[in-house]
Amino acid sequence: MGYEGFINQKIEEIKNKVGNGKAVVALSGGVDSSVVAVLAHRALGENLEAYFIDDYLRKKEEYEFVREIFARVGINVKLCDVKEEMLMALEGVSDNTEKRPIFRKVFYNTFGKLVQQSGAKCFLQGTNKADLVMFGKGQLQHNVGIPFEEYGIEKVIESLTELYKPQIREVARELGLPSSISERQPFPGPGLLIRCLGEVTREKLDLIREGLAIAEEELAYLNPFQVVVAISDEKVCSMRDRAEPNKYILIVRAVESKDAMTARAIVPSQGLKAKLEERFMSISDKVGRVIWDTTDKPPATIEYI
Ligand code: XMP
Repeated sequence: MGYEGFINQKIEEIKNKVGNGKAVVALSGGVDSSVVAVLAHRALGENLEAYFIDDYLRKKEEYEFVREIFARVGINVKLCDVKEEMLMALEGVSDNTEKRPIFRKVFYNTFGKLVQQSGAKCFLQGTNKADLVMFGKGQLQHNVGIPFEEYGIEKVIESLTELYKPQIREVARELGLPSSISERQPFPGPGLLIRCLGEVTREKLDLIREGLAIAEEELAYLNPFQVVVAISDEKVCSMRDRAEPNKYILIVRAVESKDAMTARAIVPSQGLKAKLEERFMSISDKVGRVIWDTTDKPPATIEYI
């Protein structure tokens, strides 16, 4: 029970900063934002508004999962649907370096509006220490270095900036969150976006969303730190259609890691490889081949962009 003091201190801090007003929390279903939501709920009760943003970049059936888990602890998670807005903002953008800033703008604009609409004083998010460290090393992070005032957000509370993920998992356990949250694999804020190479389309996002659900299911027994499914921009031939190179390449990657700073890629057995290929090819006839990425970090990163 090593985090009781931390939990009480953060609850007090949230109470003091928000006062009698309302606050909005960005709840994605990851362990970080889940912990922040529970701390804030304990501090503010009904004065907390929790939102899940559906921007077409989330995992399969993610809102349903989040809503159900948090309903059990008395948090009513509202859905904010910005799918069309996000897809439109990303339309025609194939330069991978332009994607995070576009995502960031739509994401924080949305929260800016939610904060203002609800008359909230504060915005809470689950930025952790690794996000700050990685940002300091020059790695782009969607949630660090945000000009919040430009989005109409006056006060921001980030309760977890002193902790790394393994410690946040400890806090989650101590708060009584279920293991489906406390032990959850990390999933990046920009979601499927940073796994979609080249132009971002509905079709490509659908393929990786489905692929990720399959890969997570098939690889669960290996207890990986993180599973990633990415998609190519270029198209290739397959035996089903030799004449025209019109199929996508899905890329699968599973890594073991403690803290995401370094990672060892899992090399699949022949049986697992065959099973995954079969299931991936059955997602859609748009899938032409499946590639296992067994590059460690370093030299690679865990994500693609
Ligand atoms: P990389 O790809 O740098 O990822 O090896 C390390 C860890 O960070 C996650 N990641 C992100 N998380 N916003 C996030 O919230 C981001 O922009 C972002 N980029 C990478 C990644 O999933 C991995 O766990």
